[in-house]
Amino acid sequence: MANPSLLILPGDGIGPEVMQEVRRVITWFSEKRGLAFDITEDLVGGAAYDAHGTPLHDDTMAKALDVDAVLLGAVGGPKYDNLDFSVKPERGLLRLRKEMDLFSNLRPAQCFDALADFSSLKTELVSGLDIMIVRELTSGVYFGEPRGIFEEGNERVGINTQRYTESEIDRVARSAFELARRRSGKVCSMEKANVMESGILWREVVQKVHDEDYPDVELSHMYADNGAMQLVRAPKQFDVILTDNLFGDILSDCAAMLTGSLGMLPSASLGAPNADGRPKALYEPVHGSAPDITGQGKANPIACILSFAMALRYSFDQGDEATRLETAIEKVLADGARTADLMGEAGGTPISTTQMSDAILSALDASL
Ligand code: NAD
Ligand code: IPM
Ligand code: MN
Repeated sequence: MANPSLLILPGDGIGPEVMQEVRRVITWFSEKRGLAFDITEDLVGGAAYDAHGTPLHDDTMAKALDVDAVLLGAVGGPKYDNLDFSVKPERGLLRLRKEMDLFSNLRPAQCFDALADFSSLKTELVSGLDIMIVRELTSGVYFGEPRGIFEEGNERVGINTQRYTESEIDRVARSAFELARRRSGKVCSMEKANVMESGILWREVVQKVHDEDYPDVELSHMYADNGAMQLVRAPKQFDVILTDNLFGDILSDCAAMLTGSLGMLPSASLGAPNADGRPKALYEPVHGSAPDITGQGKANPIACILSFAMALRYSFDQGDEATRLETAIEKVLADGARTADLMGEAGGTPISTTQMSDAILSALDASL
């Protein structure tokens, strides 16, 4: 049987720096655990723009549609801030999500014990925290029409449209309920049904999917602004949070800080299952290209490495190996390994991007 295929898109800024460390982890799993992958690599974002004048070449798009999983670093950066909107690095990532139809974006926010003291919230509020945000990823205000900047009288108007169809809400709701069944059996759906019609429809459809097919799951609804407040007030009340594209973007950055650093948060973006039953999938850290620390060896590679762990679990049926990798990360954090983003007020000497993965590789060796 052919090896599973993986397309690696390092992207921009710290993307290539953290991806370099993920490659070492992948090599470890090939050499020590016999997990061979057919790996191809390509450009995305600003790097693709520099080479081809587009943030995602059609050939790269075709490759992404063909492989078992895509692993992406990050896109964007100040160098590209003034480019025409249509060729901005972020458009490359959005095209991947849309054309691969990756409607369900899983963003876990899990607080490792060793970092509980380091969260900006009190230790007791975050220790043991394990939330899964399910963010709708291919619709909503990110893609709704009409959109653009138009002349209106003697001034311009900027327009984006929040738009959700019943089927778009239905399918992402199902993915949240399925996940909840494998976790604590609880979903909180967030929208703003008090001020937005799309929110009213969202609430109705989620409730209907629940009542018809997932009555065993405990469902609650919350306005997204209250949800943001509750996330920092008492985050452990949540298990699965189901929300739309824009609220999910914001709430997941917020949840990231509960865990200590944006540099810790992985994500999986999943589409409909292929013929073989596996979903189309893209794995990427939640963080961006971090221009402020690019090229300094300071980036925390854990979010990207944990994204590969999610690939092992969701695309390659290697849940045990994913756990092995997550446990190795837990151990190095418990042993005190800290990149700069994980240093508290007390200070100390941070380790570099590469030293963090050196430590993870040693912990993996010790797991054998
Ligand atoms: P960012 O996530 O790049 O950085 C926010 C802050 O978090 C910065 O201080 C950064 O140094 C820190 N940080 C992020 N990742 C880190 C890591 N792994 N280790 C240590 N510190 C880390 O967000 P931003 O500055 O708002 O955006 C920069 C660029 O990245 C923009 O062009 C934006 O559009 C893009 N972006 C891309 C993605 C993506 O590719 N998925 C996600 C978010 C932002
Ligand atoms: C994310 C990012 C992206 C988003 C950008 C870079 C397109 O912020 O993945 O969270 O807004 O979805
Ligand atoms: Mn974001």
